[in-house]
Amino acid sequence: MTDFSERVERISISGIREVFEAADEDAINLGLGQPDFPTPRHAREAAVEAIESGKTDAYTSNYGMEALTDAIREKHARDNDLDLEEGSVIATAGGSEALHLAIEAHVDDGEEVLFPDPGFVSYEALTNLAGGEPVGLPLREDLTLDPATVEERITEDTAAFVVNSPANPTGAVQSVEDMKEFARIADEHDVLCISDEMYEHIVFEGEHRSPMEFAETDNVVVVNGCSKAYSMTGWRLGWVAGSPRRVERMLRVHQYVQACASAPAQYAAEAALTGPQEPVDEMVEAFAERRDVLLDGLEDMGLEVPTPEGAFYAMPKVPEGWVDEVVDRGVVVVPGEAFGRYGEGYARISYATSLDEIEAALDVMREATEAVR
Ligand SMILES: Cc1ncc(COP(=O)(O)O)c(C=O)c1O
Repeated sequence: MTDFSERVERISISGIREVFEAADEDAINLGLGQPDFPTPRHAREAAVEAIESGKTDAYTSNYGMEALTDAIREKHARDNDLDLEEGSVIATAGGSEALHLAIEAHVDDGEEVLFPDPGFVSYEALTNLAGGEPVGLPLREDLTLDPATVEERITEDTAAFVVNSPANPTGAVQSVEDMKEFARIADEHDVLCISDEMYEHIVFEGEHRSPMEFAETDNVVVVNGCSKAYSMTGWRLGWVAGSPRRVERMLRVHQYVQACASAPAQYAAEAALTGPQEPVDEMVEAFAERRDVLLDGLEDMGLEVPTPEGAFYAMPKVPEGWVDEVVDRGVVVVPGEAFGRYGEGYARISYATSLDEIEAALDVMREATEAVR
């Protein structure tokens, strides 16, 4: 007998943490995966009111309280033209738990899960925890995922593929044509498409569309949440949406690992989803301005950087030793290989921070670029 499960030994603490821990206390942090805005006031107030009036003292339904699941279904009708029936969403502890439920409920031992590489760190780890086989797929030059790459890699052992648009860590946004293709592939190959739409609202060019709109079968499950759209990462409130038969299986997992999402967070989320959406627009406008400043600065240094069309990350190609030089000089960025082996030679730069800090960080990056050349 060994001390620990084989599954847990297959995963390790995220490489992003290591960078934070290596950095100076007063470093400029461009490593963060969260907006630097407050949660909208009406959402905070709804939670306070619910707490004060004792409404949050008890478990809610495992699905989440009805007012919230209704608000989530209305959100999908409003933004995605999707008519989700009752019983097709579960409120979760952030997008993280939603991804966990989707993978745990659909992936058998030894089955493959395909995902973008570089990609969000959880896809590989959660696949390993479920006993599955993670398969990272290389991206196009513009850092989007080519549907043809997915289709070519599907075998009879493939349980699911993950689409993430707008994407972490690349900021890439998939085209409508790509999303239609992902839906077709899910339908024709009878493979589950897990569409991670956490950054749905943060799009500067083009528009976000969900493969769920285009699928003819129920082979698409959507992961979304309040963390990025409403700057609510600390509240831990996300959701998973799918057909009732899929949701019923995911609910079995949710019931035992979580019981229900935190009740105060559910009240805040309901208010965020049904209340005024201007705070989202203001945040996106600020991100767009910062992106342009960052891109100009990086291009001036001679770095090649695909134009990120969404989220709040840029992913330039960087010379060897660049990330260490930048971190040593007091600016935290994350090496591309923290997001998969094809991320090597890139760095992820988050611009969820003030313009002043971005400008100061660009000065440091300029020095570092000269030093490694
Ligand atoms: C692409 C992507 N999916 C899911 C998540 C998880 O979101 P949450 O913080 O709501 O658990 C993140 C968080 O960084 C993310 O970047």
